[in-house]
Amino acid sequence: MKALIINCSPVRTGATAEIAKLVSEQLSAKYSVKSICIDDYSFSFCKGCRSCHNTAKCVMSDAIVIENIMNEYDEADIIVSVSPSYWADIPGQFKAFIDRCTPWCNTHEPHASIKPGKNGYAIALRTGPNMPECEKIIGSIEHFYGHLEIECKGHLGLTSIEYKTDVEPRKQEIIDFCKNI
Ligand SMILES: Cc1cc2nc3c(=O)[nH]c(=O)nc-3n(C[C@H](O)[C@H](O)[C@H](O)COP(=O)(O)O)c2cc1C
Repeated sequence: MKALIINCSPVRTGATAEIAKLVSEQLSAKYSVKSICIDDYSFSFCKGCRSCHNTAKCVMSDAIVIENIMNEYDEADIIVSVSPSYWADIPGQFKAFIDRCTPWCNTHEPHASIKPGKNGYAIALRTGPNMPECEKIIGSIEHFYGHLEIECKGHLGLTSIEYKTDVEPRKQEIIDFCKNI
């Protein structure tokens, strides 16, 4: 079984990356793990043309970049998205990726699809102390999973985290979450 772990932050060495690394270490005992960072990819914003609503294909010249990311999703049985709060939402880079996934959105026919039977998990982190902001981010990720027909199996919200050094005291919480994946 394969697990795909996505760092939804553009920061490759921050708190999100640290959590993604810990998740990867935990899951590698059970799964073949692939980790990616949204910053590994460069792509333009969706123009909202809706061609894909009729063709299930993106007309933009960099469509292959998104197809490559979706191939990573397609190869995985388990998907874990780890996202920080940027202005109380997912980072713009990750939102831009989701927008470009409209050819795969199940609200129109035809639509592209990944293989069924995948399980999705969401981890949200933020610097502030209140959980509702994490829940909003989890909601965005689970909305995305829903339209890709990835089953939402679990989520974790982590408040009061800014830098990677803030992750160490929360290690056990994250390990416990991973035990249920
Ligand atoms: C542009 C930006 C916006 C942020 N907005 C929020 C916010 O609205 N609420 C919050 O609690 N933390 C916010 N943060 C803090 C991040 O959620 C927190 O530092 C997180 O650990 C960042 O992880 P990263 O460095 O791996 O991206 C923001 C950070 C940045 C860089």
